[in-house]
Amino acid sequence: MGKIILRARGIFKNYRTGNRMVSALKQMDLEIEEGLFYAVVGRSGSGKTTLLQVLSTQEDVDGGDIWLEGEAYGTLSTDRRAALRRKKIGMVFQEYRLMTELTVYENIVLPALLDGRNIEEAYIDNLMKSLEIEDLKESYPHQLSGGEMQRTAIARAMTNRPRIIFADEPTGQLDETSAFRVMKLLRESSAMFGQTVVMVTHNKQIAQYADKVLVLDRGALVGRSEDE
Ligand SMILES: Nc1ncnc2c1ncn2[C@@H]1O[C@H](COP(=O)(O)OP(=O)(O)O)[C@@H](O)[C@H]1O
Ligand SMILES: [Mg+2]
Repeated sequence: MGKIILRARGIFKNYRTGNRMVSALKQMDLEIEEGLFYAVVGRSGSGKTTLLQVLSTQEDVDGGDIWLEGEAYGTLSTDRRAALRRKKIGMVFQEYRLMTELTVYENIVLPALLDGRNIEEAYIDNLMKSLEIEDLKESYPHQLSGGEMQRTAIARAMTNRPRIIFADEPTGQLDETSAFRVMKLLRESSAMFGQTVVMVTHNKQIAQYADKVLVLDRGALVGRSEDE
């Protein structure tokens, strides 16, 4: 086994709506190896989004803890956790979440500006080239295809050179051809920049391109494999 970048121990999370209680995650242990490309699969409602939200510090667990490069989320204040998220974590969502009034370039550099960093122009150029959106710099989101919007969102997730990228069904709104292209470019770009990727997908063919597959069922991890 390679170096572990992220570790979860005994994590669980429940949601309460009215008097109904849902165990979205049940006592899960997990290790993510540095530099690998993971697919997370499982039926709708099996806890995939909840898992990504807690691993990416967007949601708290109800018990257990998570360590990113040895730093335990449970011991961090809200501010320190937000700082860790900005510095080390990239997020990609199914619905892109681009700023409609900003250009592709402005969307991509926004995380650096929000974090008070200098824009590393050479790195951003490389990123846009590797994601094949360098000709779209001055375009606005409404002028792009779904695949182009998602590749812009991936570039934005990589702007602050995160250690790990979480993508929740990033190809869910794309046709098969552009879904494949987006997945391939995400994989190649993250490999080029040494990033670990954890990607939820419904698409079995896409999952086959992952280094490892994590299978969820009713809030539990029921399989970890090279291939489903
Ligand atoms: N904010 C929430 N409030 C109440 N229940 C939720 C919430 N988010 C998720 N759930 C429930 O938790 C379970 C897991 O959901 P989710 O993590 O979204 O699964 P998946 O992404 O695999 O479809 C489901 O039963 C879902 O209804
Ligand atoms: Mg989901």
